[in-house]
Amino acid sequence: MNNTGAQNDSALIDPFGRRIEYLRLSVTDKCNLRCFYCMPKGFKDFEQPEHWLTFDEIERVIEAFTELGVARVRLTGGEPLLRKNIAELSQRLTALPGLNDLSLSTNAVLLDKHANDLQNAGVSRINVSLDSLQAERFKTITGGQLQPVLDGLMAAKRAGFSPIKINMVAMKGINDDEFADMIEFCLEHDFTLRFIETMPMGATADDATDHYLDLQTVKKQLSKRYEFITGVMPGGGPARYVQIKNTNLRIGFITPISQHFCETCNRVRLSVDGTLYLCLGQDDKVELRPLLRNGISDDELKNVLIDAIRQKPEKHEFNDKPDQVVRLMSMTGG
Ligand SMILES: C[S@@+](CC[C@H](N)C(=O)[O-])C[C@H]1O[C@@H](n2cnc3c(N)ncnc32)[C@H](O)[C@@H]1O
Ligand code: SF4
Repeated sequence: MNNTGAQNDSALIDPFGRRIEYLRLSVTDKCNLRCFYCMPKGFKDFEQPEHWLTFDEIERVIEAFTELGVARVRLTGGEPLLRKNIAELSQRLTALPGLNDLSLSTNAVLLDKHANDLQNAGVSRINVSLDSLQAERFKTITGGQLQPVLDGLMAAKRAGFSPIKINMVAMKGINDDEFADMIEFCLEHDFTLRFIETMPMGATADDATDHYLDLQTVKKQLSKRYEFITGVMPGGGPARYVQIKNTNLRIGFITPISQHFCETCNRVRLSVDGTLYLCLGQDDKVELRPLLRNGISDDELKNVLIDAIRQKPEKHEFNDKPDQVVRLMSMTGG
């Protein structure tokens, strides 16, 4: 890429002094599961394939971001393993000189098949969504089968991914009796565990809100049973971690609702159709696809990204305006 002009590894500073160094890249808005809090049943309004950024376009945008100081990218979706040739894309991204870390968020349904290729392509870390270890309950939450997910997790472990993080959305009346079981499962397999609060997003907002559980309370309850060491692994992402004494198990609490972490936000999101979303909980965005398909130069692209970051909102307003966001999580790249 042409390096004259806009290159500056601290160029992506937003109006609130936050340095943007992390991008969540949605490679598809489709999914092979239907988690009720994420994607409404029967949802079919997916992006047309001609609107998907091609691998060349994705590589170009990520290269521009890396030249502006973004060092970490996470592949997400929808379900990223549904995107054809995802290992090839991973390989192309990890070859970019400025990219230090390529990670993946997946439901693991197809991970058994892809784990080795992703490892060989340089994907460094994997997060797996897993809300229940009970097959029937898993089906109720996701509409899918639990066993392929467990197979996928074990394949990731065999392929050498470490750490593997389990993301469990904590839901009142759905899986709130299963936190200790998930802790034991993660202890057994040496996984890291993160609990997540439901967020009201798009058409699933009411479902998410109905089952919202305050993780501050969950943490208090769990601390009666487990002895937590606090203050481990500070910074980096939104999770606040504790460690169970005399074990290696780290448990993160991601609390966008009860204790938001917007003041340390370091990320933006690129959706499959090339829309750059500046905040998960706001509509501020910049459409990159038309620019990429109309001959924008490398320097112009970098200037567009710099200007975009100047529009990053201060914070989400999930608490004050829970009905505000019209996008589903799977569209934004959760
Ligand atoms: C949208 S998914 C995309 C990647 C992949 N399909 C997966 O499930 O890991 C990313 C994360 O968003 C979370 N998520 C989706 N909708 C959510 C909501 N309304 N509130 C909180 N987390 C949500 C999922 O649980 C998952 O951990
Ligand atoms: S959370 Fe992930 S697996 Fe579940 S429906 Fe959304 S995109 Fe699919």
